[in-house]
Amino acid sequence: MSQALHPMLNIAIKAARAAGAIINRASLDLDLLKVNTKSPNDFVTEVDQAAEQAIIEVLLTAYPGHGILAEESGRAHGAKDSDYTWIIDPLDGTTNFIHGFPVYAVSIALAFRGQVQQAVVYDPTRNDMFYASKGRGAFLNDKRLRVSKRIRMAESLVGTGFPFRKGDNFKRYVQMFEAVMQNCAGLRRPGAAALDLCYVAAGYYDGFFETGLNPWDIAAGSLLITEAGGLIGNFTGEADYLYQREVVAGNPKIYGQLVQILSPYTRVIKSGHETTHADAPAVTPEAALAATVASPVEAPKKKLPVRIRRADLAGKDDAAF
Ligand code: IPD
Ligand code: CA
Ligand code: CA
Repeated sequence: MSQALHPMLNIAIKAARAAGAIINRASLDLDLLKVNTKSPNDFVTEVDQAAEQAIIEVLLTAYPGHGILAEESGRAHGAKDSDYTWIIDPLDGTTNFIHGFPVYAVSIALAFRGQVQQAVVYDPTRNDMFYASKGRGAFLNDKRLRVSKRIRMAESLVGTGFPFRKGDNFKRYVQMFEAVMQNCAGLRRPGAAALDLCYVAAGYYDGFFETGLNPWDIAAGSLLITEAGGLIGNFTGEADYLYQREVVAGNPKIYGQLVQILSPYTRVIKSGHETTHADAPAVTPEAALAATVASPVEAPKKKLPVRIRRADLAGKDDAAF
């Protein structure tokens, strides 16, 4: 990047590197790792906690008046009424990390009045720094990122995340898996959502979808995608995805086609101003598939805003999805 980085982005990068150093050190002796279970199949280690503390310390030393929403400590740190909120996943891909599977990352985003403005996703296994400032493009190390140019679903590589928590709707996921798999060239599930989103920004994937993600999994990666020319939304193609626990992303063409395939599986139901979730698809998957094959939709020309409603973030937890 030739221009100087935004000062807040610089601080985020400093915080991500501090967390990365802790993670890399711990990865050298995984036998010493103490693992706790948050819920079945959902783990946290002392490394997640130490990395989160290091990140918060760097951020609040630079910006003591800012708010914090972090995966392990919630809103316990930072100002409660700031316009600025740092959204932190100190170690995305904890299950991979525990097993020594080298796909995990640190994710840090800064939202100003609900809009993500700065974003960093750091892969400490490769020393890869993905970052973006709103309106200034997305980068991997010094390289400008652009989403892929592929326009046909049939040639696309698509990333996803499998459900894994007790109570997750596995049947619904398998139907989505089948619908997407039948239409694309390949599906991948590496296991770190923040990196998955960066892979869309970098053009490695042409699209991505997952359910059950939290704001800290998505916030930073979402800005990387929009700054790389991609789109991100919920299964019906709207911007309310950060707290709706369903996300689809891609280059504009593939995004449109994925929305067409996945919209029958949305759990977001709108009635007036209220938004709720439900299990039953509104349209049968077969009908949606037929429509997709016959006439792939164009993605909306307008970029979808990256928006977080603070009221919706507060207190949202890992409800079964
Ligand atoms: C997880 C990863 C994974 C996704 C899960 C997340 P964590 O984050 O992003 O890819 O499928 O839903 O919870 O718990 O390792 O930070
Ligand atoms: Ca995560
Ligand atoms: Ca995490």
